[in-house]
Amino acid sequence: MDFFFKKPTKNAREAMCQASLDLGNREIETNHNRNAEESLKDLTCHEHARVVNSGNSAIMIAMNNIKGPVLLPDQGGWTGFKKIADFLGLKISYLPTNHGIINLEVLDDNIKLKTPHSLFITSFAGYMAEQPVKEIFELCDERGVILVEDASGSIGDPQRSLACGDHAHIIVASTGSPKIINLGSGGFISTNDPNMLDNSNFILKTLRPNPVICAGLVEAIKEAPDTLSKTLQACNFLKKEIKTVLFEEYRGINVTIPSKNPKPMARELRKKIPVNGGGMISTCPRYDRIKQPAVCLEIKNLEIKSLKNENLRKIAEITNKIISDFM
Ligand SMILES: Cc1ncc(COP(=O)(O)O)c(C=O)c1O
Repeated sequence: MDFFFKKPTKNAREAMCQASLDLGNREIETNHNRNAEESLKDLTCHEHARVVNSGNSAIMIAMNNIKGPVLLPDQGGWTGFKKIADFLGLKISYLPTNHGIINLEVLDDNIKLKTPHSLFITSFAGYMAEQPVKEIFELCDERGVILVEDASGSIGDPQRSLACGDHAHIIVASTGSPKIINLGSGGFISTNDPNMLDNSNFILKTLRPNPVICAGLVEAIKEAPDTLSKTLQACNFLKKEIKTVLFEEYRGINVTIPSKNPKPMARELRKKIPVNGGGMISTCPRYDRIKQPAVCLEIKNLEIKSLKNENLRKIAEITNKIISDFM
C-alpha cells in the first residue's frame, strides 16, 4: 500500500522542462501564454481568460473590480476570500449555510437584506460537497449579483455543472499544489465581461504568470477531466465504505468524518496511512472546510495512481478501525 502526494503530471512536467529551456525567447514565451489562454477559454466556455501567478491573485483581480459588499458562505469557502476583501477594504457579509451548502431561499433573503454586489463560492463547499452552482448562478443573475466561482477543485467537471462559464459570471482557480490542475503554482481568471479584464491591465501585468506555468497549463488542462473523475469516484467509494461520513450523497473530492477528538484521531490516521512527499489528513473546525470537529481525508492530495481499489479498501479498513477506537 503506497500513497504518493500529487505531482504535476508527466506531460505537464515535460512541457514545463522544455519551456524552461526556452526561457528568454520572447516569441515562444508569448505563444505559451496565448495557447494557455485559448485552452482556458475552451475549458470554461468563457470568452476571456488570463493566466496569473496564483489562485489568490485571480481572486484579487476579481475583487478589485467589485466595488460593493461581498457575500461569503459562513463556512466551506476559502480563507483567501476574506483576507483579500479585507485587504481591498470591501465590506463582507456572511451567508448562513447548511454546513457550507447554500440554500437558495436563504440566499435570496440574504441578497434582499444585505444587497451584496458579489457572491464568492467554491464549487465544492469545503472540497466536501457540490454546491448547486447553476441554480445559485440563475438567482444571482436575476438579482444583479456577480457570482464568482472558485473552481480550484472542479476544473474539468465531466457533468459540466461546475467550472462552467454558463453558470458563473467569473471563474477563478488555483493551479498550485495539490489542486486538480497541479503545476506547483499559478492560477487563472475567466469571464464573458470584456471590461473586467480591460480595466485590470496594471494588476494583470503585476500578477503575470511565468511562461513555464503557461506551457504546463496547456498539457494539464487535457488531463483535468480524468483526474477529477477518478478523484470523485474514489471519494464516492470511500463515502460508502467508511462508517460515519458527512455528505454521503454529494459529489466531493475529500471525505469528512465527524470526530469528538479530531487531533489525536488525525495523528493516528497519519501514522497508519503515510503519504510519500506530503500529507492527506486535515482537521476541523476550519472556515475552509466545516465549522465542527472533524477529520478530513484529503483524497484530492493523492496521485491518481494511488487511488487503486485495493488502496481505497485499505484506507476504508484503517479508518473504520480508528473510528471504532475513538468512539
Ligand atoms: C479553494 C482555493 N482557492 C484558492 C486557493 C489559493 O491558491 P494559491 O495558493 O494558488 O494562491 C486555494 C489554496 O489552497 C484554495 O484551496
